[in-house]
Amino acid sequence: MALENPTYPGALSVFCGTGSKYISVPVGENGIDLNVLEDVLSQRRAKLIYVVPSFHNPTGVTMNVAARRRLIEIAGQFRVPIIEDDIYRELRYNGPDIPPLKALDEHGMVIYISSFSKVGFPGLRVGWIAAPRVVIDHLNRAKQRSDLHASLLAQAAIFEFARRGLLTKHIKRVKKAYSQRRDAMLEALEKHFPDDASWSRPDGGMSVWVRLPQSVNTSQLLVQAIESGVTFVSGEHFYSSSPRQNMMRLSFTMAGPQAIEQAVKQLGSMIKARLLKSRKERSVRRTDGLRALV
Ligand SMILES: Cc1ncc(COP(=O)(O)O)c(C=O)c1O
Repeated sequence: MALENPTYPGALSVFCGTGSKYISVPVGENGIDLNVLEDVLSQRRAKLIYVVPSFHNPTGVTMNVAARRRLIEIAGQFRVPIIEDDIYRELRYNGPDIPPLKALDEHGMVIYISSFSKVGFPGLRVGWIAAPRVVIDHLNRAKQRSDLHASLLAQAAIFEFARRGLLTKHIKRVKKAYSQRRDAMLEALEKHFPDDASWSRPDGGMSVWVRLPQSVNTSQLLVQAIESGVTFVSGEHFYSSSPRQNMMRLSFTMAGPQAIEQAVKQLGSMIKARLLKSRKERSVRRTDGLRALV
């Protein structure tokens, strides 16, 4: 299994459990690093490639069309099917639509998965897969063995909702609210986070990926943040290897613009206080080490 590093923790628990073999491929400005992937596949046999090409969780990056074509080419060359997890596709707030890998795939290499969770119905547990017939037949049997079938009531409810045109309206409303919340978060970060922090500016999705200075450990920061009523996901949970301790994922979909501004302000002052403390400690350590030369 080859997968992006970092990636969605749910995928890590499915694909990277004890005993399973996986290859971690870094994510760059344009999604999965295709040079590394090509290199890795030329040396090791992989059975699947798992990617989130649009509004990647957690980095927010979206692969452009050229990168998508090259990924499909690489998959074709090494005969490795791709799982395209396109769960955030509907949540684009600006920029032109980019076709899914599945739409560009001439070799039948892509298994496309999505669900209704991110457009507002996580409790329904209804999703779908578009894949070659033979894959669907296998998955049908596996699904029957695991839970017989997905809830018929949930499927009927979402079907009726869509049939009446309400899903389209709902997605429009959700996108408007989420894009305002994203903008509120980006503005608040600019205002309240230290100059040496940096973050993604995603065209869609649900979260912003923040890099703090090395000295800030986001798991420790989280403990303090929770005490003051603010929460986020610390970055280490998204890595299959070499976890970074100074990353955090801030979701902008759960609260309104004012609450977001307030929470980012609180986080910003906690981070600045930690930076100040670590700078002071470093300068004390430096002066401790000084020896009188005269
Ligand atoms: C990339 C990705 N895939 C899948 C899921 C989970 O989707 P579902 O709720 O439909 O199982 C998430 C949820 O965060 C996600 O980020």
